[in-house]
Amino acid sequence: MSGPVAVSKYDPFARLLHWLVVLLLIAQYIVAWTMPGIHRGTRPEGLIVVHLDLGAFIIAVMIVRVIWRMVRKEPDVVDGTPFTRGVAYLTHGLLYLLLIVQPLMGWANASSRGWQVTLFGIDLPALSPKGSTIGHTLGDAHRVFAWVMLVVIGLHVAAALYHHFFLRDRVLRRMA
Ligand code: HEM
Ligand code: HEM
Repeated sequence: MSGPVAVSKYDPFARLLHWLVVLLLIAQYIVAWTMPGIHRGTRPEGLIVVHLDLGAFIIAVMIVRVIWRMVRKEPDVVDGTPFTRGVAYLTHGLLYLLLIVQPLMGWANASSRGWQVTLFGIDLPALSPKGSTIGHTLGDAHRVFAWVMLVVIGLHVAAALYHHFFLRDRVLRRMA
């Protein structure tokens, strides 16, 4: 009964952050697809403000999550070949990247519309000048990347369910 004790699960805080971000994203997509269409001269009101606030909160949570990812203890490796482990590693890295870049692009677009983005009521700086082409372009990219992110999430969820129901290993349980 001696020897190193394997860390069998992600730690509670890592699990909390994972499922918190899942809930925030579900809410964010519902809001994004329910809010009024955004055109030149649209005023930031109602659900649009909810989208901005929720998005700013997602960035804040992701900053904490990236820091936690760097300082936490990693759980032990479950199974798989170097290839499948590599795919999982790259997919998770891509998800982290998208979860930061996607809201930043939305923020830059909001700034180019002259909208004030806030976090807990505190004004955040503009990420692009009002009326800027770059802010406009990043808004187009923001709409496209919402779909890119959804596809990557779909692959990720399919992999998790495949592990649980077909491979019957602990991969899903260690995040649950
Ligand atoms: C991960 C977080 C986010 C997701 C998943 C997301 C998702 C989306 C989606 C799906 C749309 C398109 C809505 C439509 O087709 O009508 C959209 C539009 C938009 N979002 Fe986000 N968003 C996020 C974060 C943010 C943040 C942080 C901001 C600003 C602070 C923001 C500002 C905007 C703006 C201004 C638009 C309109 C863009 C345009 O049509 O030019 N978003 N968002
Ligand atoms: C919004 C959707 C989701 C996003 C953005 C997301 C993102 C991530 C990220 C970035 C990781 C890496 C964790 C880390 O090392 O810090 C991860 C791990 C994991 N996720 Fe998700 N996830 C989502 C939804 C789900 C769902 C719905 C499930 C279950 C059906 C799931 C199951 C897992 C599992 C089991 C792991 C651990 C994988 C491993 O141990 O190798 N995720 N997720």
